[in-house]
Amino acid sequence: MSTQAIGIFDSGIGGTSIFRELHGYMPHENTIYLADSKNAPYGSKSEAEIIKLSIKNTELLLEKNCKLIVVACNTATTNAIKYLRTTYNVPFIGIEPAIKPAALRTKTNVIGILATKGTLSSALFHNTSDLFSNGIKVIEQVGEGIVQLIEAGQTNSDEMKTLLETYMKPMIEADIDYLVLGCTHYPYLIPMLLEILPKHIKIIDSGIAVAKQTKAILEQHELLNNRTNIPKNIFYSNGNVNILRSILNEEFDVEYLDF
Ligand code: DGL
Repeated sequence: MSTQAIGIFDSGIGGTSIFRELHGYMPHENTIYLADSKNAPYGSKSEAEIIKLSIKNTELLLEKNCKLIVVACNTATTNAIKYLRTTYNVPFIGIEPAIKPAALRTKTNVIGILATKGTLSSALFHNTSDLFSNGIKVIEQVGEGIVQLIEAGQTNSDEMKTLLETYMKPMIEADIDYLVLGCTHYPYLIPMLLEILPKHIKIIDSGIAVAKQTKAILEQHELLNNRTNIPKNIFYSNGNVNILRSILNEEFDVEYLDF
């Protein structure tokens, strides 16, 4: 039993899609979220830079006494989680593109994955993809420019629609039946993607799997918060606090913090 907070970090506001899953699944847990928007996007940075930023975020969450850290960013997970796990003495939960369920369920034997350059070029992603995509065609697409638009508060813009149409076209033509969202910013694009994609294409992401895994690990370490009082969910951004507030529908307190 522990009332210490779960620490969550992302390159920006996208990891709030993971926070929502965690909060829905474990509503009494206290959480501290770091949006490193000043340094977004991580997806075009080198592995060494991503590790350095992940260390900075982790150390701040540990200073704030977090009991477990959720790396709510596919790019940081695929590039840095191995380093974090061998360096710090708290459990880390990461997020990786849901290649496995898509590969198991596809009927057309073609699946699409939209993720950042940093994720698609990582060794961890390649290992997972090689393991599960035997006999299946995986169409990889770098979501160049998407994170920047979301971070600028332009999730529903015409520019976004044009970008998504361009990225989806080759996948539709190749007859994918599953689209894997491999970046925690992308669940916010689902309404627009549903307009663009033919009805039979299903979209999957790893959000709920992360929430379930987090609960299982907290249980295993006897760190679940069993109190039923209203939790503290704190959000820090080193970028534009209003954009973070708005993606959270003004439901939570957001503070500016220079980190
Ligand atoms: N949310 C991050 C991810 O899941 C964003 C990537 C970025 O900053 O480029 O990969």
